[in-house]
Amino acid sequence: MKINYVEKKVALKKGENAIICCFENNRISTEIAEIMKKEGITSEQLKSLGFKGKEGETALIPSSGGKVFIFTGAGKKSEINEEKIRKAIGKGIFEALNRKLKKVAVLNFNIEKKGEDLQKALAEGILLSAYRFNKYLKEKINIEEITVYGKENLKEEFFRGQILGEAANLTRDLVNEPGNVITPQTLAETAKSLSKKYGFKCKIFTEKELEKNRMNGILTVGKGSKNPPCFIHIKYKPENPTKKVVLVGKGVTFDSGGLNLKPEQYMKRMKMDKAGACAVLGIMKAIGEIKPDIEVHALIPAVENMPDGKAYRPDDIIEYKNGVTVEIHSTDAEGRLILADALIYGSELKPDLMIDMATLTGACVVALGNYTTGLFSKDTALAHSLQKLSQKTGEKMWHLPLDEDLKEEIKGTQSDIQNVGKTRFGGAITAALFLQNFVEENVKSWIHLDIAGPAFIEKEWKYYSFGATGQPVRTITEFITKNR
Ligand code: BES
Ligand code: MN
Ligand code: ZN
Repeated sequence: MKINYVEKKVALKKGENAIICCFENNRISTEIAEIMKKEGITSEQLKSLGFKGKEGETALIPSSGGKVFIFTGAGKKSEINEEKIRKAIGKGIFEALNRKLKKVAVLNFNIEKKGEDLQKALAEGILLSAYRFNKYLKEKINIEEITVYGKENLKEEFFRGQILGEAANLTRDLVNEPGNVITPQTLAETAKSLSKKYGFKCKIFTEKELEKNRMNGILTVGKGSKNPPCFIHIKYKPENPTKKVVLVGKGVTFDSGGLNLKPEQYMKRMKMDKAGACAVLGIMKAIGEIKPDIEVHALIPAVENMPDGKAYRPDDIIEYKNGVTVEIHSTDAEGRLILADALIYGSELKPDLMIDMATLTGACVVALGNYTTGLFSKDTALAHSLQKLSQKTGEKMWHLPLDEDLKEEIKGTQSDIQNVGKTRFGGAITAALFLQNFVEENVKSWIHLDIAGPAFIEKEWKYYSFGATGQPVRTITEFITKNR
């Protein structure tokens, strides 16, 4: 999809349709009325459709010249914010795709409000809502060209939104690819080509190096698959970095559950179990574009969790590089086992901030529903600022406790800890407490994000279509490059 950002008087091209932002009970501006008039459309027509410009409302009017005018409501002008812009343009784009329109002009979205990056949100809304994973479909419905009429002074902001939207869409492309296409090795190749494009350092650890670095979680979980596991380390280092950030993403390219095989209805969609890894890659793409003055390391433990004669089993006990021993109680709690190696490795880099993201527990989805990420951190101020930012980006997060009283749940009998709690209660918390054992003292702050709910959605939601959402790419990119 081609996106043009132009600062000119609106002039619709041949075959170009229009999406027009309207506010509740706001009169159509003379500029827009003029364009409508040219195409033989009146505001009376719009009124007769009962369109008032409320949030979520749309109205379609075909013009005499064969164009389609899509009016989309954004609610009261005084209450406008970034998320309302994304939703309004998203609705408009969805209508355009329903109508199989190929060329669209975006009009009247040139809104400014203090404290809100509305033009950034517009770009994000366009990219996120126009995204479809249709490479395996015979009939591909796509918008080919979008022309955004905007002010020159807001161009940079729009470009920023474009970077974030494109980064999230890369993540969606990777998550949507199935397990027969993406294996630990193809994840590594993706990391390498991304690194080549942006000039990052990239190191892939395969079996020998995994052994040398005593990455026993990755080696253990990877044993059951004919696709060998690996560990990916990407490094971005500017000249004089102001801080060091480590990102960790769970890269289970398919989670069958292993010998503790998942039942049919739970195994479905487990291609999404690499969403944390893919989010980290998306964030690195954005980092490559933005080139911030912070040092960023991306760490991805990549495995496929399969049952096999060589697979690891319940009761197995493994020892980690930091000396902690773990007894396996379920081979389906594999994410925490591979993240542990990455967290130990990340700790050795002595970062100011380490953030891991993982489709870690079904329990987190039970707790917060499908649309909210579980956010864990002992640094309450940091957690609150991230939670607040997530409300702005629309990638909702909610702070959950690292409840010390639940440590008992994962205390082992013949090992230091076990990989599953003794009861199923607080499953998202016990998983986070498990990870905490591998975050060493020299990490200033640590955040764990359980994205099991919002990484992949089963039905259309806001400006997202079915499938991967690319969460939390936009929020984490903004958080590390802007907030602190
Ligand atoms: N990948 C799953 C978690 C998951 C569930 C992600 C639903 C996305 C949607 C994880 O590896 C897993 O299987 N977790 C188990 C943990 C249990 C064995 C303690 C779960 O949530 O049931
Ligand atoms: Mn699992
Ligand atoms: Zn998993």
